[in-house]
Amino acid sequence: MSAQKIIIAIDGYSSCGKSTLAKELAAKLKYSYIDSGAMYRAITLYFLRHHIDYSDHGKVIDAIANINISFVYNDQTLNSDIHLNDEDVAPYIRDMIVSEKVSEVAAIREVRSFAVAQQKRMGRKKAIVMDGRDIGTAVFPEAELKLFMTADPEVRVMRRFKEMYETNPRVTIDEVRHNLELRDYIDSTREESPLHQATDAILLDNSSLTRDEQLEIVLNWVKEKTPNPAYK
Ligand code: CDP
Repeated sequence: MSAQKIIIAIDGYSSCGKSTLAKELAAKLKYSYIDSGAMYRAITLYFLRHHIDYSDHGKVIDAIANINISFVYNDQTLNSDIHLNDEDVAPYIRDMIVSEKVSEVAAIREVRSFAVAQQKRMGRKKAIVMDGRDIGTAVFPEAELKLFMTADPEVRVMRRFKEMYETNPRVTIDEVRHNLELRDYIDSTREESPLHQATDAILLDNSSLTRDEQLEIVLNWVKEKTPNPAYK
């Protein structure tokens, strides 16, 4: 029997630790990790820099034609950096100015079909962990393991506040709370593949789990879904 590789789809609300878990899983399994949210953030950064009026569908279509997104492996951080038209934009995509607009941009049909087509291509060889809002429902409905992550809202606010404070000490807790609430609302009520738990996704509430505890729990689920793993 040939070694089996699977697709792991992780969805959930803003800032509930999806990317932390996804990175750790990918490192452990020697899978690639793709942060689909970074793609929507990079597209938003392009729209902001080029003053694209994204309420105009024609302008959105023209702009998308000029956008190329790639993930480039960085052997210092052992992660992939997101490049927008060959520029490493990782340092800019988490700025509040991008966070304030990203959910509006991600709700646009043309933006989603552009990003989802690329995400589906990245999963062709399996051995991938991808996190986002529609990975188990729209990008990889066939994924062998689907997780839907959640955590107490105040836990999520404080985690994101601490993360942002490191690079921007002027950020306030209220600003972070407002942004997370707004994005969760837009992401779960939009028309195009809104955020919701896939019927076959496992719910993981990590409010009171340490990183190691959640990794151990999920690695056991991975084992159950991978009878003959490509890793030992
Ligand atoms: O890391 P955080 O939870 O703050 O969010 P993210 O994964 O960076 O995603 C930023 C935004 O992109 C989300 O709030 C969604 O509006 C959008 N997104 C999406 O629509 N679909 C995805 N698969 C991933 C992100």
